[in-house]
Amino acid sequence: MAKILVTGGLGYIGSHTVVALQEAGYEVVVVDNLSNTLAEVEDSIEKISGTRPIVHHFDVAEQGKLQNLIQDEGVEGIIHFAAFLQVNESVENPLKYYENNIGTLVSVGKAARDSGNLPIVFSSSCTVYGNPETLPVDENAPIVNSESPYGQTKIVGEQILKHAADAGDFPVISLRYFNPIGAHPSGEIGELQFGEPHHLVPYITETASGKRSELKIFGSDYPTSDGTCVRDYIHVMDLAEAHVAAMKKALSLKRGNFEAVNIGTGKGTSVLEMVKSFENATGLEVPYVLADRRAGDAIAVYASAGKAKDWLKWEASRSLDETFRDAWNWEKNLAKKNIPERENV
Ligand code: UD1
Repeated sequence: MAKILVTGGLGYIGSHTVVALQEAGYEVVVVDNLSNTLAEVEDSIEKISGTRPIVHHFDVAEQGKLQNLIQDEGVEGIIHFAAFLQVNESVENPLKYYENNIGTLVSVGKAARDSGNLPIVFSSSCTVYGNPETLPVDENAPIVNSESPYGQTKIVGEQILKHAADAGDFPVISLRYFNPIGAHPSGEIGELQFGEPHHLVPYITETASGKRSELKIFGSDYPTSDGTCVRDYIHVMDLAEAHVAAMKKALSLKRGNFEAVNIGTGKGTSVLEMVKSFENATGLEVPYVLADRRAGDAIAVYASAGKAKDWLKWEASRSLDETFRDAWNWEKNLAKKNIPERENV
């Protein structure tokens, strides 16, 4: 089986993908500068899979170092996660986001090109569609400039990779994720929280645990069935397995190919439905208030998941109930961990 480099492989989606790759029989090399995670994640991965991945702690923007590693290890494909991910912070500090997210991408691209035109699977986002006019949104929907530098780095990142693929540098599969949630069922890995969460489900689990007094639902007057925003929430292990399917496919592609693929469930769920489903799945209560809209939120976004099914032979299989049980299990384990207070990025 091929040896795969996973940049950002100790982060939330990265660590689950490392486990899924190992389970599928791939050898894994990780490069992670620990900017938004902890080195202990290596132990947790080993506990789950029984195999410790090869891990190097440095910034993938260090292109020479990255290229040497790829060549020394005989890497055959790259999954590129390493990037900053906070929308609010990106608005406050755009240059930090452009420098890091574009710098790391260009470095990975050059290293892939100069190490034998290695295939790249890129971590993109449904944020490239903005507030889509047609639902479910498919891969041919227009790409709209993002309101946030974070979102724009995903759009520009895809353009850079498309141009490089067109020039014959390597094949690329860009995965446009919808909303990843939950954690590995073992409770060993999940999304670490170094301060205030940035996404809905950690807010729900922290409210259920009593860490927060109530959940604020951002906006209840949207033109949706119950007035709250609709998203396509996908179990992080389903998403991780999508990366395995994408890498398998990418290894068979010729350089020059660029494909973007939605990775979602195809099902839209409102914020209120999320709260109710969590309560049903866990038997816990989540006190909430209906609050003002949050600036920049799309009304409703959910995937047309047909291309992933037909072309990657992958589809999401875990239920929302299962996902919430895993999310809650992780929340309980997180409470026992001694996570230092620091900014997420
Ligand atoms: C967010 C980012 C998006 C990014 C994605 C994945 C914004 C505006 N968008 O998507 O660019 O690609 O994460 O990292 O930040 N909600 C509440 N109360 C809360 C938290 C969230 O009602 O305390 C609602 C939001 O208004 C939204 C839904 O829950 O309708 C999901 O929010 P969130 O988890 O932050 O994800 P997105 O906004 O979809």
